[in-house]
Amino acid sequence: MSRHLLSAADLSRDEAVLILDTAEEMSRLSDRAVKKLPTLRGRTVVNLFFEDSTRTRTSFEVAAKRLSADVINFSAKGSSVSKGESLKDTALTLEAMGADAVVIRHGSSGAPHRLAGWIRGSVLNAGDGTHEHPTQALLDAFTMRRRHGRVAGLNVAIVGDVLHSRVARSNVVLLSTLGAQVTLVAPPTLLPVGVEAWPAAVSYDLDAVLPKCDVVMMLRVQRERMDAAFFPTVREYSRRYGLDRHRVAVLGEDALVMHPGPIVRGMEIASEVADSARSTIVEQVANGVSVRMAVLYLLLGGADAQRLGGADARWPGGAAAGEATP
Ligand code: NCD
Repeated sequence: MSRHLLSAADLSRDEAVLILDTAEEMSRLSDRAVKKLPTLRGRTVVNLFFEDSTRTRTSFEVAAKRLSADVINFSAKGSSVSKGESLKDTALTLEAMGADAVVIRHGSSGAPHRLAGWIRGSVLNAGDGTHEHPTQALLDAFTMRRRHGRVAGLNVAIVGDVLHSRVARSNVVLLSTLGAQVTLVAPPTLLPVGVEAWPAAVSYDLDAVLPKCDVVMMLRVQRERMDAAFFPTVREYSRRYGLDRHRVAVLGEDALVMHPGPIVRGMEIASEVADSARSTIVEQVANGVSVRMAVLYLLLGGADAQRLGGADARWPGGAAAGEATP
């Protein structure tokens, strides 16, 4: 596996499955009274967040701490970034303090790639502009595999503001690597130019797509990234692309409703749907910790961690990484 995780496209099928299997092992830790492994003791993980975040930042922090790493949380607000310091100088400063891994969220697509060229440690992309959010896609795939027992062959609809969504981009890439069929559903104004080249089908009609879905992944309308009117009114958007109880009624019995969060209740998803038994929204957050532990472990644990079944790959009292079934 590469030293960095910048894009879902960095992952081969085997690497993605290794991460999911390792996350499965990590998730067993949450059932224990002491939820810690000594694996990354003495290593330092920096959370470098230039954009707001609730789930992703805290999830990476919990994940690193459960592996016994030291964690530095850096947010651009209140730092020397407001004095004009560049990303490169900020990163070199943090590296000088001994960062072994930098988890970065940045408003500019490509920022993590630039960072990877400047520092010696691992770079993990926690969301760059409208580009990618690979650990979100991994935790989504993990959630699907847990609930449906597989990812290959699933019909997954990704619905809403695809244009501004790094979650959609990473999911399309990873889900196609893992053999799922993805349909993007959005108004034409919220689909990117060139979407025909993505490994996904496209539809403007949510009602036509829903009956054959195993998973419906709703996306937030990312108004903070919008510089124009992409749809007439919120009411009109919700009427055509919102998931309410009438739409959910046509879903198959086992179909899941997913959302990366934060949700806007009443806009892309009705409250009663978000809180229903088929919604995995809270479960996705819990799974995010296991998946990020797995990624940190595999990227920072070195070659030993990746030698499947090797003695060094064993956690105390647990099975070896990769032993779980795909
Ligand atoms: C997403 C993001 O920041 O890209 N959220 C997340 O990481 N869980 C999606 C969003 O903000 O709507």
